[in-house]
Amino acid sequence: MDGNGRWARKRGLPRAIGHQRGVEAVRRLVRALEPMRLECLTLYAFSSENWKRSEDEVDDLMNLMRRFIKSDLPEFIANDVKLKIIGDWEALAPDIVDMLRDALAQTANGTKRLAVALNYGSQSEIARAAAKAAKEGSITPETIAAHLDTRDLPPLDLLIRTSGEIRLSNFLLWQAAYAEMLFVDTLWPDFQPAHLTQALDNFASRERRYGGR
Ligand code: FPP
Repeated sequence: MDGNGRWARKRGLPRAIGHQRGVEAVRRLVRALEPMRLECLTLYAFSSENWKRSEDEVDDLMNLMRRFIKSDLPEFIANDVKLKIIGDWEALAPDIVDMLRDALAQTANGTKRLAVALNYGSQSEIARAAAKAAKEGSITPETIAAHLDTRDLPPLDLLIRTSGEIRLSNFLLWQAAYAEMLFVDTLWPDFQPAHLTQALDNFASRERRYGGR
């Protein structure tokens, strides 16, 4: 969800406002899961490298998270959304961990998957999974995949990065092995369900061969 800072700077606004508008974009997309019949949407909300940002910005993001869970959990429950968190989220502030545990429990029966990456870094996710696989005595692609944070999510089909950056930034590296990629210039706060519809149209036109012919 890249581009919140640039969205704000272009308007002479504080970065925090860009992140607030970013949350509104999240809300719009979650509401679009049902009409678009999307099985799963995974959002990169906070990376394990984002701790390098200023204390103020990290605080703003954590407070946004708190407010978002509080305000939107009832809607998730009502709309059959099942929350999933990937990353080392249990290392976040204890009150956020408690809120997330409660949100996971309350949405456990939902059918539409919303996965949020929090304190997430793909390399450390793979290392953790490989260590668990090794402990069980067998390191293969299958045993590693079985221990990734995403083990119970559907395969990654389409990875979209906003704001014109063309890199993965430690997001879903393993899962992206055969994913289609789309890099768009839209800044995250400007991202609308219509952009996702366009992205899905683009995805539908791709020929996926998984190395075959
Ligand atoms: C990247 O934009 C965005 C982030 C690091 C934070 C994304 C977080 C949210 C949208 C809010 C929290 C999410 C949820 C699910 C409640 P940037 O700040 O790097 O933008 P820039 O590259 O333009 O500076």
